[in-house]
Amino acid sequence: MAGTASPPPAPAPGGVPSAGPAGSRKTLSRWPRPGETVDGVTGSGVTVPAPVAAAAGGDHCSLVWANEAGGLTFAAGTGRGRRFIKWAPAGSGLDLPGEAGRLAWAGRYHPVPRPLSQGHDDDGGWLVTAALPGDNAVSAHWIADPATAVTAIGAGLRALHEALPVARCPFSWSAGRRVADARGQAAAGRLDPAAWHQEHRHLTAAAALARAADIPPPERLVVCHGDACAPNTLLDPAGRWSGHVDLGLLGVADRWADLAVATWSAEWNYGPGWEDALLDAYGVRPDPERTRYYRLLWDLSSLPGRARVGAEGPVVTLRVGDREVA
Ligand SMILES: Nc1ncnc2c1ncn2[C@@H]1O[C@H](COP(=O)(O)OP(=O)(O)O)[C@@H](O)[C@H]1O
Ligand SMILES: [Mg+2]
Repeated sequence: MAGTASPPPAPAPGGVPSAGPAGSRKTLSRWPRPGETVDGVTGSGVTVPAPVAAAAGGDHCSLVWANEAGGLTFAAGTGRGRRFIKWAPAGSGLDLPGEAGRLAWAGRYHPVPRPLSQGHDDDGGWLVTAALPGDNAVSAHWIADPATAVTAIGAGLRALHEALPVARCPFSWSAGRRVADARGQAAAGRLDPAAWHQEHRHLTAAAALARAADIPPPERLVVCHGDACAPNTLLDPAGRWSGHVDLGLLGVADRWADLAVATWSAEWNYGPGWEDALLDAYGVRPDPERTRYYRLLWDLSSLPGRARVGAEGPVVTLRVGDREVA
């Protein structure tokens, strides 16, 4: 799990850089051909899915990210033509059409990627978005400057919560719905406590569900980001937040649903001791009870079948169906 100073053994929100040190990018020296295997920094290869190659056209293309569910993100082009191509394997549970709809809605109020095109085939789905300026908060530069990064993450999350109008938001991320979804996963035998974070791993699925059923009253309903981990905030070169990415779960919820994950992710990515700075930048006092609750709900809501990622080192292998893709 490269890019995290203190990475959790279980899947973290937002994905992890797959290749090399924090935020490093594997740049292809030329544009990929469909199905072409490119030597990766990890020593294994990445098969570029055909629709990604098509979306890259003849432009320079690089792999920038891989997540625990087998999703890949590529960057293509330069300047005004720069765009990002997210690709998700079929059956991964990643909802790129849902993300495109949320981006289109949120983009009226806040800097988020503008969807350009999307599609799917038997192997997976893809979403092409226009590049936002800035680098994510776990790029090597910002990992080395946690004070600036967590301040930008806190301030950026506050700005997002203030900008997106609850009354006009067609999307929900309510705890009630998430608990109901988790019950469905449990009934299908897809809740795996062994995949949860250390503090929850001792719980049985039934015990965790019982706790999750006791939903704290919302402190303040906002339109939540839905995956407010560090890599989903972009920073400009001066260290100010410049936008948010990865809005596939955006929806109305208590703001602590985001804050609990944002502070948790600060610890994974920058080490312990940054939670208060993030909350200060956001402008809120700690709320240990809601924080505990929404971290448990995060684990309960993890995508079924997410690949486990080793606690140390980069992702070495990603599979799509029977195919090894990274
Ligand atoms: N439109 C965009 N503009 C700028 N950076 C982007 C854009 N889309 C994705 N990225 C970069 O790619 C990374 C992975 O994209 P993201 O949507 O977060 O994928 P995942 O769902 O796998 O976490 C982000 O952390 C960000 O650095
Ligand atoms: Mg992300």
